[in-house]
Amino acid sequence: MKTKIFDVKDLNKHNIEQSAVYDDAEANEKVEAALEKIDEAAQIIIDGGLVAFPTETVYGLGANALVPEAVAKIFSAKGRPADNPLIVHIARASNIGELTPALTPEIIRVIDNFWPGPLTIVLQKKASVPDITTGGLKTVAIRMPDDPAALELIKKAGCPVAAPSANVSGRPSPTKGEHVIEDMDGKIDAILIGNDCRIGIESTVLDLTGDIPTILRPGIITAENIEAAIGKKVEMDPTLNHRKNSFSDSEDEKNLAPKSPGMKYKHYAPKAEMIIIEGQRDKVKSEIERLKALNEKLGLKVGIILFEEKAFIEAAHEFFARLRDLDDEGVNLILAGALSESDGVGFAVMNRMLKSAGYHIAKV
Ligand code: TXA
Ligand code: MG
Repeated sequence: MKTKIFDVKDLNKHNIEQSAVYDDAEANEKVEAALEKIDEAAQIIIDGGLVAFPTETVYGLGANALVPEAVAKIFSAKGRPADNPLIVHIARASNIGELTPALTPEIIRVIDNFWPGPLTIVLQKKASVPDITTGGLKTVAIRMPDDPAALELIKKAGCPVAAPSANVSGRPSPTKGEHVIEDMDGKIDAILIGNDCRIGIESTVLDLTGDIPTILRPGIITAENIEAAIGKKVEMDPTLNHRKNSFSDSEDEKNLAPKSPGMKYKHYAPKAEMIIIEGQRDKVKSEIERLKALNEKLGLKVGIILFEEKAFIEAAHEFFARLRDLDDEGVNLILAGALSESDGVGFAVMNRMLKSAGYHIAKV
């Protein structure tokens, strides 16, 4: 399949809202051209095709969430297991009623505080949401992204858009247009290329179907942020603190299986072997140097991922891109310094780092 590549970097909130009222004719033309590309991409979604698009977290791979045949194409393009449900994206909070039967004051408060933005909420689903979209679950994950191209695409498509991250299943999530081209060129109808994703890790997934709001996937919006907005304790899914990458079928383990199906798969894996070094900062640094020298002596190419101690936001922004860069450089081994998990964002990045390393940790 020939994949159409549409550059929409010239779109930003300001110029959409002002509908191109600059004095600068050249700038206006660029915005108009980008909007035309989005029209074309929206028509592809309407016709049941697949379009990758930028969001503030990572790039998504979108299809009409209400049409099973369209959603099926997402699973085959990514090689994604069928029991891993998709997030449904909407462009106006008022469209949520198409997907879920009832909103509580608590749900409304969460939406008011965090949408558009990097927070996905899991709610009861309406029968109109096909089983394939939710991996057979009775719940649906919903998010309103904060990216002008994404919002414009969803509005023009006129339907909720199911979109997982636009990577081949198991690969690091894409945070730049070139990552999407690398994974999806030839497999999907079109790719909207925007600016690099502002956040760099996927949205926080918050389950609001039970009495206690529970985080199923950590992200840049932390439990503390949500607690402050709703005035109520937010819990973490207990499996988020597990440092292992497979869940067996024994009864004990079954009870511990993650509520968010996607959290149980091997994820974000670079091609190289990866080890996380955890401990006091100076010791981590010298252990990384020691292991690097040792492995290089053996003829291996070694890559290092070591962020500044409290640079959690930067770590989130850079982590997936670093994994892809190191793969491109052909390194055999990646040595990564652990981040502090007592910080909410540090915890979210560590969640990805642990999975990338297959929970391979060396303590110093
Ligand atoms: O930031 C993001 O969330 C990006 C952008 C594109 O919006 N999307 C994304 O989608 O990360 P994906 O498919 O890579 O991850 C969705 C996660 C998976 O862990 C999945 O299991 C979980 O959300 N999920 C989806 N629906 C669910 C549901 N009904 N109940 C529990 N977990 C659900
Ligand atoms: Mg993903």
